[in-house]
Amino acid sequence: MDLLDKFDSIVELRASLPFEKADPFKVVIDEVISETEAIIGGRHTILAGTNNYMGMTFDEGAIDAAKDALDNFGTGTTGSRVLNGTYGGHKALEAAIADFYDMEHCMVFSTGYQANLGMISALGGKDDYVIIDADSHASIYDGCSMGNATIVRFKHNDYENLERRLRRLPEDAGKLLVVEGVYSMLGDAAPLKEILEIGKKYGCMTLVDEAHSMGFCGENGRGVAEQLGVEDLVDFYLGTFSKSVGTVGGFAVSNHPKFDVLRFVSRPYIFTASLPPSVVASATKSIEAIKRSGNRRAHLWENARRLHDGLKNAGFNMCTPEAQSPIIAVHLPDVMQGTKFWERLLLEGVYANMAAPPATPAGMFLLRISVCAQHTTEQIDEIIARFVRTAEAVGMDV
Ligand SMILES: Cc1ncc(COP(=O)(O)O)c(C=O)c1O
Repeated sequence: MDLLDKFDSIVELRASLPFEKADPFKVVIDEVISETEAIIGGRHTILAGTNNYMGMTFDEGAIDAAKDALDNFGTGTTGSRVLNGTYGGHKALEAAIADFYDMEHCMVFSTGYQANLGMISALGGKDDYVIIDADSHASIYDGCSMGNATIVRFKHNDYENLERRLRRLPEDAGKLLVVEGVYSMLGDAAPLKEILEIGKKYGCMTLVDEAHSMGFCGENGRGVAEQLGVEDLVDFYLGTFSKSVGTVGGFAVSNHPKFDVLRFVSRPYIFTASLPPSVVASATKSIEAIKRSGNRRAHLWENARRLHDGLKNAGFNMCTPEAQSPIIAVHLPDVMQGTKFWERLLLEGVYANMAAPPATPAGMFLLRISVCAQHTTEQIDEIIARFVRTAEAVGMDV
């Protein structure tokens, strides 16, 4: 038996999609001009789908620090964090993140995906419960699969449903409530105050993944919990460097006095190579810069609101009533129209993301734009204009 046969339906679906000139899985960025522009297929293109929310990928301080680290420490550590792979830079980065979150302890992982695997699988033991939002990111689901806890799901952002679920669990069992600040498909923010208060009422420890909210939510950019003034209800923050920070890596922070024991029990922390010194150095500089980036934060929010309102006024079916984050998502009627729309938009010179099940909730087809603080007002208006032209060109009713 051919073990790949089980994927035949996926291959068939992909073959049936009406891509003519471009295919989302084959797009190659030939040249990066800036945080917001690239050459793709010979065409000058506005980047409207990266997670480069704070536009840090070309930050001069971060680039210089990375070059310095390359010269002084080489291209990689070739070791795990617990075996030869912790350099002074890793410790400095952990200190910078702890300072950013005003918390005591931080662990840096090699990706945000691994941070979720490592935290959830280690915290959720055999007799414990891990309670998650149904629309959680794959890394949260995979962290659950890797651990031994019983998993309980509640309806997306529905705190009454959460309370009904928690009421049924044994009072003194260990419970970890895991939620995200902003959900990456629809770009909607969580009602964290209600969710975390209910979690605490039922004895949960709480983990908030601020992957898509760090950098621009809250006065210091810590995320939605800061924005809503509920940081004292968070036991563990989790985040990534692959979005606002502009590089790669992940982290968890906490004030828990026993936090450091996780370095000895979290397999995705131990059994993988640590981040290269250049990445660590640029992440440190970037996080320090983000802390001082009040103006950038403000411009990012202006951009997000302008784009959301522009598309809404043009008649597009928006996923949120207003911009709740820099992720602005538009509903598309079905996979065929979605495919045509995405391709035509790329040919118009806008690279956004098409999102389809199983990544999306409730079988939706979406076109997701991630706004960047470095997008100019003219670029935002250009994205709106090209969306409108694309809808006309593919005959889509918006
Ligand atoms: C909510 C959430 N958590 C974690 C991650 C993983 O981040 P990384 O790219 O660092 O693996 C992502 C990435 O998309 C995410 O959306």
